[in-house]
Amino acid sequence: MCGIVGCIGHEALVRFLIEGLEKLEYRGYDSSGIAFHNGEEVKIYKAQGKLINLKNLLNGCLSENSNLKAGIGHIRWATHGVPNETNAHPHISFENKVAIVHNGIIENYKELKKELIEKGYKFSSQTDTEVIAHLIEDSLKNTDSYSAAMRHALKKLQGAYALGVIFKENPETLFAARKSAPLIIGVGENSNFIASDVPAILEYTKKVIYLDDNEIAQIQGSSYKIMDLEGNILEKQVEIIPWEPVAISKMGYKHFMMKEIHEQPDVIRQTLFDKLRCFSEPLHLPEVKLTHDTLEKLDRIQIIACGTSLHAAMVGKYLIEEFIGIPVDIEASSEYIYKRTVISKNSLIIGVSQSGETADTLTAIRQAKSKGSHVLVITNRPDSTMAREADSLLPVNAGFEVSVAATKSYTAQLMAFYLFAIYLAEIKNSLPQEEIEEYKKELLQLPQKVEMILSNKEEINECAIKFHNTRNFIYIARGINYPVALEGALKLKEISYINATGYPAGELKHGPIAMLDDTIPVLSVLVPGKVYEKVLSNSEESKARNASMIAVTSADDENLESIFDYIIKIPKTHEIFSPILTTIPLQLLAYYIAEYLGKDIDQPRNLAKSVTVE
Ligand code: G6P
Repeated sequence: MCGIVGCIGHEALVRFLIEGLEKLEYRGYDSSGIAFHNGEEVKIYKAQGKLINLKNLLNGCLSENSNLKAGIGHIRWATHGVPNETNAHPHISFENKVAIVHNGIIENYKELKKELIEKGYKFSSQTDTEVIAHLIEDSLKNTDSYSAAMRHALKKLQGAYALGVIFKENPETLFAARKSAPLIIGVGENSNFIASDVPAILEYTKKVIYLDDNEIAQIQGSSYKIMDLEGNILEKQVEIIPWEPVAISKMGYKHFMMKEIHEQPDVIRQTLFDKLRCFSEPLHLPEVKLTHDTLEKLDRIQIIACGTSLHAAMVGKYLIEEFIGIPVDIEASSEYIYKRTVISKNSLIIGVSQSGETADTLTAIRQAKSKGSHVLVITNRPDSTMAREADSLLPVNAGFEVSVAATKSYTAQLMAFYLFAIYLAEIKNSLPQEEIEEYKKELLQLPQKVEMILSNKEEINECAIKFHNTRNFIYIARGINYPVALEGALKLKEISYINATGYPAGELKHGPIAMLDDTIPVLSVLVPGKVYEKVLSNSEESKARNASMIAVTSADDENLESIFDYIIKIPKTHEIFSPILTTIPLQLLAYYIAEYLGKDIDQPRNLAKSVTVE
């Protein structure tokens, strides 16, 4: 949520800022801006709307210019104040001495603003951020030290911030600071960088320092100092990023989302690699740090997550309860944090997050940890704050996911839950060995089965042609596929803005069926197994109300043709693994519908991929 970049000492400074923001566009894209010191003054350029508007404004400035000193940039997802040019960052202090970019929310900004206004400061934007610029300038009145002024001002802030700061009278230094919002320092040769996330700096350096909360960095072209809020110098480890820049290219696809959908077979293979070594051997999950003794005693699990990760968690609940027979509660992180945290001695908390930075989930796992729980995190980003704070980690190796709508990271999260549930079943002896071996064999079949779906998209495309102008869509399923219905509906909502809702199929008759007529398509997810006949009956009930019917199914059932107008076939698998396969057509359907509607698929309106505010 909001992306920040900064650079000092590089001759292609403006190019770095713009290209860096381009790589962070998944964090927000309603306005953008940069500020840089040209040796004499701080120049600021801002534009409302997508980054392209800022690029057009800067045409001509992008060539190399070794006279430029420190620079900062920002891409915004508005929290305080509408997304216009005035509210876009960077913000400049009253006497033009301090320019800043900020990600996060300053909770006490109203009080601080009042104090500053009483001192004579004038505000030009509606943002919470502007108070920080004025506060630092105010602190500078009592000291010659820029870092002391920063520390003094930061101590007054309540809330979350990742900051990039440059000073008019100190052109050779870039400052950065972090509290509850991600920020890294990229260490280069005679140039250094800051960014909200790794992709922004990957082409310039692979050496990074992860700032922790309440740390400030004072950065020059060939040196840096990191200190705490008291000014004590800290020793920080420089880490090497293992990714290549190509990991964040579209590789010939029109959108990142389509590329990421097609990466799913490999993501599944990658998730299984080295963990499932042999059918008769226990799964190998070295990152799970709970002892076998603790796992044997485990009697309750709570899973917390947001958005698509919450849907993966719902599948996880089903699996763990089915395989191990212990209760699993799932909760949206934003709800979990405002309730009494009830934890028993033998319980485990699992946090699920693609980014590992989602503020609600981070707060929730911190809360659980402070009560003494062991926290296991399932994340796609082993370098994230959540991964760093977790007691155990289940990395999911989906690679960078750029499209705001999550696809491959969701599938990878599901795989993590399959592995973890089987791992627990082996430790707790809750399933017969033959059944476990059957499951392991089936897991290995999944990549080819996903490939089969991806190579036969015609039926899905036809549905998209037929239904892209509908205003409402209903998805139904039962059992382990109910979260798939929710996720399918969420995908459609996110990228096409169609009002799509997922229901447990049995709930349709308790209200939603009142909406049905020939204008609303109903998509049923039904695979042979425990609930097949029931979903079929619920589909018949919808058909009887004239709804247009679509099935996503692996069943060879002649009856289907009399109920469904469109039948999207998927390969057969055990019902318990079907969410991996049923999800894929729903991702593709959402994609094609959004494409026919001409929507901005990778960057849907109002959304951001990494939501670092509560
Ligand atoms: C945002 C994204 C969603 C994502 C959710 C949770 O809302 O747009 O796609 O599912 O955050 O993100 P996380 O990184 O915690 O999985």
